[in-house]
Amino acid sequence: MGYDVGIVGAGPGGYVCAIRCAQHGLKTVLVEENRLGGVCLNWGCIPTKALYAATKLLAQAATATEIGVTFQAPTVDLAALAAWKEGVVSRLTGGIADLLEKNGVEVVCARARLGAPGRIDLSSGTPIEAERIVLATGSAPIEIPGFSFADDAVWSSEDALALTEIPAHLVVIGGGVIGLELATIYRRLGSRVTVIELLPEILAAIDLDRRTVGVLKRALKGQGIEIRTGTKASGFESTGNGVRVALDGADPIDGDRVLLAVGRRPSSADLGLDASGVDVDRRGFVAVDENLATTADGVFGIGDLVPGPMLAHKASAEGVALADAFAGESPEATLAVDPDLVPQAIFTDPEIASIGLSEARAKEDGRPILVGRFPYAALGKALGMRASDGFFQVVADADDHRILGVQIVGAEASDLIGEAAVAVRTGLTLEAMAETVHAHPTLPEGLKEAAESALGRAIHAVNR
Ligand code: NAI
Repeated sequence: MGYDVGIVGAGPGGYVCAIRCAQHGLKTVLVEENRLGGVCLNWGCIPTKALYAATKLLAQAATATEIGVTFQAPTVDLAALAAWKEGVVSRLTGGIADLLEKNGVEVVCARARLGAPGRIDLSSGTPIEAERIVLATGSAPIEIPGFSFADDAVWSSEDALALTEIPAHLVVIGGGVIGLELATIYRRLGSRVTVIELLPEILAAIDLDRRTVGVLKRALKGQGIEIRTGTKASGFESTGNGVRVALDGADPIDGDRVLLAVGRRPSSADLGLDASGVDVDRRGFVAVDENLATTADGVFGIGDLVPGPMLAHKASAEGVALADAFAGESPEATLAVDPDLVPQAIFTDPEIASIGLSEARAKEDGRPILVGRFPYAALGKALGMRASDGFFQVVADADDHRILGVQIVGAEASDLIGEAAVAVRTGLTLEAMAETVHAHPTLPEGLKEAAESALGRAIHAVNR
């Protein structure tokens, strides 16, 4: 019996697409060889955020004497912490299984490959016939020459999240999002942490202004995380009780474990793409048009597998857009998500969150803009939270004052970017943001004040 839609991969792209297809009354099957929820729920976003929250307690307790509250030195029961984190993951993956079932999505546990047109071959036996096939197989961590995840001393992000030990000295290779988030967690757990980054700047893959990254760099340094930019890790050897990482043009560095976080690549191998006429670019991304269609008839691609930011919420947005289009209900001209409308949140201390145009990119493009900034230190709420580090930045079109981009570095930036995302998505003006009454005392007041600052009329900061 054939399906209307067959989806391969049950991460935030695939499972969300499946639920929305089923909501539209399409007969839908979802094929997954591993756990529902994919990397994000099981070995990525969710366990990282659970550990980020848990270890924040340690960081806060360590400095609480400043406000007259003294704790005894905390102890960490690593096994209990890991079990709690697994509990969070299980609740969510269980919830997804329930949602898929209640929406009438059929779930098949098997390894899938594209077969003849309209067919998905399964490792478990009988192939699936589907009118439309959606590939949502995600991505996997990259290895670089000289390092292999097969070696116990070399951790992937998944190994780091397993919480098997707290290394005395963790050498993190890659100053990108994953490297810095896990550096933060392990530093809070008590590891000495050194981050090795090839490029002259950390977080270089993300469109952030130098000023924004500067706040984070200073803070990481203050937390005792050593960052060595412009340094290439070229290999490692096991020493008696640890590892020695070779650096190009510098002395090797000794540590106890290496976390390799040098990027991820799309999981496009062994899917039968070539034989099915699905083109893949030289980096392994499945090529799709503006409607997420691959070069093979009836085959579509979403999420980390296709070009664009490798973010769970981007994958989900594409999954929903595609499902709506299958049902003839897509109001958008194109289905591919505009990267300028995809927020990014980085869970370091302080957090960084951004959406849309940076000040640097606007200047590069020669686009006339207004820029407003407002410091956390001027927010009553932030001071009471001991979170005075950071700022809000708004970039707007100089002519019509529409907000084009927002960057926030500071406490709870990942939550605060939601309001900014609505502003950029709806083309809200600086005036509309400035005139919107924000509750006092709250952190979102910083966004309103940054808009006022761009107009030269901030109340709680001196306008320049
Ligand atoms: P990344 O591309 O962000 O950073 C990897 C870094 O490793 C780069 O800065 C690169 O220059 C550096 N590097 C490469 N080879 C090196 C070498 N030999 N020595 C030293 N440094 C070297 O990749 P990352 O952090 O692994 O993240 C992968 C993807 O997952 C990204 O697209 C990221 O946006 C996404 N992600 C997003 C999260 C979030 O938004 N909170 C969380 C986790 C992942």
